Amino acid sequence: IPVASFDCVVFGATGDLTTRKLLPALFYRFQDEQIPETSRIIGASRTEISAEEFRERARDAIKRFVPPQDIREGALDGFIAHLDYVHVDGAGEEGWSALAALLAERPDQVRPYYLATSPDLYGPICRNLAKHGLIGEKSRVVLEKPIGKDLTSARAINDAVGEVFPEHQIFRIDHYLGKETVQNLLALRFANTIFERLWTADVIDHVQITVAETVGVEGRAGYYDRSGALRDMLQNHLLQLLCLTAMESPLNLDANAVRDEKLKVLRALKPITANDVHQVTVRGQYGAGAVNGQPVEGYLKELDGPSRTETFVAMKVEVQSWRWAGVPFYLRTGKRMPQKLSEIVVQFRASPFSIFPEESFGREPNRLVIRLQPQEGMKLEVMTKDPGPGGMRLRPTNLDISFEETFKQRYPDAYERLLMDVVRGNATLFMRRDEVEAAWAWADGVLKAWADRPETPRPYPAGTWGPTAAIALIERDGRTWHEEL
Ligand code: BG6
Repeated sequence: IPVASFDCVVFGATGDLTTRKLLPALFYRFQDEQIPETSRIIGASRTEISAEEFRERARDAIKRFVPPQDIREGALDGFIAHLDYVHVDGAGEEGWSALAALLAERPDQVRPYYLATSPDLYGPICRNLAKHGLIGEKSRVVLEKPIGKDLTSARAINDAVGEVFPEHQIFRIDHYLGKETVQNLLALRFANTIFERLWTADVIDHVQITVAETVGVEGRAGYYDRSGALRDMLQNHLLQLLCLTAMESPLNLDANAVRDEKLKVLRALKPITANDVHQVTVRGQYGAGAVNGQPVEGYLKELDGPSRTETFVAMKVEVQSWRWAGVPFYLRTGKRMPQKLSEIVVQFRASPFSIFPEESFGREPNRLVIRLQPQEGMKLEVMTKDPGPGGMRLRPTNLDISFEETFKQRYPDAYERLLMDVVRGNATLFMRRDEVEAAWAWADGVLKAWADRPETPRPYPAGTWGPTAAIALIERDGRTWHEEL
């Protein structure tokens, strides 16, 4: 279904995010005829290039980041014809009147301003948009993460943007919320009766959330070293996954109804303090090793200097509420792990008593594994009898739904869904100001505890599941990280 006609202005138009994610996502939406013919995508940045050069760069980006078999005859030329470019200095004066003139050609369009720039520019760009009269009822501003590096800086950004845009026109992206399987978590929990009834501390033993990447810092060492895994991944993506897993049923799917429930979870996170930080968190940093059989350098070598920034973090987190009392959430995320894997594992309690003889191995608990990537799907591990006359021997087997095989269609990238939601004005899958700030308030506690009890991150060889202390973190509680059956 086509969305309303729009002029999307992308600030940071020559940057990495635009090249790798935004242009390919918009291309797919165009090719699927969701973007009306009268829409324009206007690149804006400080790079002095012509509109023609920008179109050529966009063409290269799409050829690079969209598999050739996905590009239909003529579609690329059609898409490129919708692109324009203005050289604009986000924080300065240059270029704004040219942008205003371009936008004035189509005054009735929906107007998303996508800020794919450094967060320091969010305030100045918004002030300039207001100063040049470019904000109206149909405007929206999209903020990429990171929104700040702690609570204070996040508030400053939110204040600056909030001075010119009302909250309902602000779309704070966490692209994990746009992943199909993450939305499927809502369907799983609230469109089925069987799971929600079991979704309590009485039945669930613990939850694990893993987001593992094989990549290193990929030329982003400058940003990454000031950030680290806690700020880059855990404060946003992993906490959002935790919220969707732990939240109560929202009244409906309206943006505020969903966000109210997520906010309650964030506010219920037990603070981590200097007293327990070393028991419940582990920081790691990768050294040289091999990923997928390829030798890779260690983080310090990539950075070319000393650093105590963590490229891996594992944590035991508690949600202080009736539903979750006593149910730990183990979170871990890291760069240079053995495989790219994001999953949520809900482990149920073991059966209280076994009628099967000891040697039947009968007491493995059930697990529900929600796989976000790769091979999106869900598995329920259940105990079954080993076939054959050998007696009553049991083993866990998967009830398995592979979304790929079931739906036999391409899984759209998160940005495709999210960009179209911005045009539609649907903020359900975006973060509200109070959510971002609640997540920072909690993460600040962890950062402060680490600063109060400084410790060098523990080394782990690239291509492994993090430092051994991360295994000890969960094994101390008599549990283990999930491994594929
Ligand atoms: C980004 C982080 O938000 O998410 C990156 O800044 C990370 O460091 C990326 O690589 C992971 O996203 P995905 O969709 O590839 O899992």
